[in-house]
Amino acid sequence: MPNDHDHPPAKKFKPGSVFFRNDKNKPGMLLPRKGNATTPIEVQRKQLPIYQAKPQLMNQLRQLHNAILIGETGSGKTTQIPQYLYEAGIGRQGLIAITQPRRVAAISLAGRVAEEKRTQLGKLVGYTVRFEDVTSSETKLKFMTDGMLLREAIGDPLLLRYTVVVLDEAHERTVHTDVLFGVVKAAQRRRRELNKIPLKVIVMSATMDVDLFSEYFNKSPVLYLEGRQHPIQIYYTKHPQSDYLQAALVTIFQIHQEAPPSHDILVFMTGQEEIEALARTCRDIAKHLPDGCGPMVVIPLYASLPPAQQLRCFQPAPKGCRKVILSTNIAETSVTISGIKFVIDSGMVKAKRFSPDSGLEVLAVQRVSKAQAWQRAGRAGREESGSCYRLYTENEFDSLIPMTVPEIQRCNLSSVMLQLMALGVPDVMNFDFMSKPSPEAVRSAVNHLELLGAVERKEGHVFLTALGKKMASFPLEPRYSKTILLSPDYSCSDEILSIVSLLSVDTVLFNPPAKREEVLAARKKFSSSEGDHITLLNIYRAFKKVSGNKEWCRENFVNSRNMGLVNDVQAQLRDICLKLNMKLGSCGAEMENVRRCIARGMFVNAAELQPDGSYLALDTHQPVSIHPSSVLFQGKPAYVVFNELLHTSRCYMRDLCLVDADWLLEAAPEYFGRKLHPSKS
Ligand code: CDP
Ligand code: MG
Repeated sequence: MPNDHDHPPAKKFKPGSVFFRNDKNKPGMLLPRKGNATTPIEVQRKQLPIYQAKPQLMNQLRQLHNAILIGETGSGKTTQIPQYLYEAGIGRQGLIAITQPRRVAAISLAGRVAEEKRTQLGKLVGYTVRFEDVTSSETKLKFMTDGMLLREAIGDPLLLRYTVVVLDEAHERTVHTDVLFGVVKAAQRRRRELNKIPLKVIVMSATMDVDLFSEYFNKSPVLYLEGRQHPIQIYYTKHPQSDYLQAALVTIFQIHQEAPPSHDILVFMTGQEEIEALARTCRDIAKHLPDGCGPMVVIPLYASLPPAQQLRCFQPAPKGCRKVILSTNIAETSVTISGIKFVIDSGMVKAKRFSPDSGLEVLAVQRVSKAQAWQRAGRAGREESGSCYRLYTENEFDSLIPMTVPEIQRCNLSSVMLQLMALGVPDVMNFDFMSKPSPEAVRSAVNHLELLGAVERKEGHVFLTALGKKMASFPLEPRYSKTILLSPDYSCSDEILSIVSLLSVDTVLFNPPAKREEVLAARKKFSSSEGDHITLLNIYRAFKKVSGNKEWCRENFVNSRNMGLVNDVQAQLRDICLKLNMKLGSCGAEMENVRRCIARGMFVNAAELQPDGSYLALDTHQPVSIHPSSVLFQGKPAYVVFNELLHTSRCYMRDLCLVDADWLLEAAPEYFGRKLHPSKS
């Protein structure tokens, strides 16, 4: 959503206000590959660094049950290893799974490999991501998100369909990857004990620090892919920068004025709003450049962008025009873009942070780790030598933490704990994690599940309740599944299913900052004083009414593709409900039912208006504010529940629903008994 104070207006642009110091001591690094889009695909495959190593690699992988494979981004691990295995007849009795932390990556990689194999996607090569399954009985190479493999493990803990599991992008250490490590390790051991077909586990990483992986997977051997190296010049700012957006802007135009136009720039920023704001400012400035300065095309890249727009970053810019890609950390290792000669690193990333005392998880902009900074720099040297401009000083770099803390140690674990219990893990408190989450975080997650009624404690042990079992059948966060399960009590299952589906799909609404007024005007007719959930539902109903008419979508800034996805998601959730014998129905225009249901399912995320006009989260008494994008931003409702917290300049609640204090009390009398202060409202 547009957020004006987050972006520097064009007039603040002060050329030359950032100075870089060259650091000659830092070694160049990284390898790249020759060839480009016009080279035939078979030739491209043979030019990949991994190709040289193929015979030795296959020899090793044939014999080993566990292996760790390291190679720089772009060396060909993800696209080639599955094909090599398949071609060598390794693991032919079953499927080869390749897991990815990101949906986009799973989808685009499957597409690429199908193309290389000259088959239709969904035949030999397919993919499965949440709410989307493009595989068939012929599928042997299956790209999937790590979350999807985890779900499959609930029905099949030994993963018997698979003969090889490739855990890719392991360095990212997402929660799902980490849980999967444990699940796959257990499956491998159990299969050995039961004399089943062995499971081969290959861990792939773009970074060198893999001791932990090797140790964890039975001291498995580490295979290094040698790459061709191109030196990268690293530059630091002379002084700390208070505004990295401004610094990025200045740097982009410094480079643009000095470097040949064929040298593309990749800028690492933190998120959609900031990227869109910077893109707008860049385009504005680019219109008014002195003669002799070529044109530039500015391309945003972030996960919630519709896939067709994400693909734009791979297309070469027109001749004589510079390509400037503004990306989140998605371009660190998940996708490889050719032609990049300059990297600008803000040094920041938006990531989850969790405080076990509060049980609240927030998205916050924070400093990257050294490992991330090196990955970012590496993107500049894939095809030839390049430069990386760090928008921070060398001292600041030295003070960065060496490695990103695994997500499992900084997120809310309630989903994970619920899943582990559904997997039948006997003692979730002591699950074999590669990096253990803190005991407080585990306890806090179990408490949360207890509040939701998903688990019970008996004699020091934690058990899944009948409700908890049902909750685990949904590929959703526990509070969402709970809300769905409650919906028949309020006869509003249709509405709740729509709302949960809307919230599960990446942005269904476009918010082009340049058209802010128009967007506001278009949204007005759907806007509900009952909050964002109801507003979203209104938009969805209107969308259905016009059967997704494209013209209507354009006029109302609705992302028609993602809205279409909402339908699919809803259908799948509905299937799960029917399997659970739920009675589904609609409450028509009775939106109070919907809000009551949301209040009861999501009561943990409630906030209360204070006499001074600010809000406090009821759970933690942490000060929070209503995000400017919310329809409740202007009003000051006494009580709201919110979907998520976003930490920027302050802690913002996003996606709000108006609720009554009484409803919260009813939802959890004991819990709120001590916390609610209705008299204050
Ligand atoms: O996994 P790794 O980073 O080692 O490399 P990869 O993903 O297998 O990519 C190898 C090469 O395939 C990249 O350098 C791209 O040129 C190409 N590729 C592509 O053209 N389109 C994709 N969707 C994925 C890869
Ligand atoms: Mg890869």
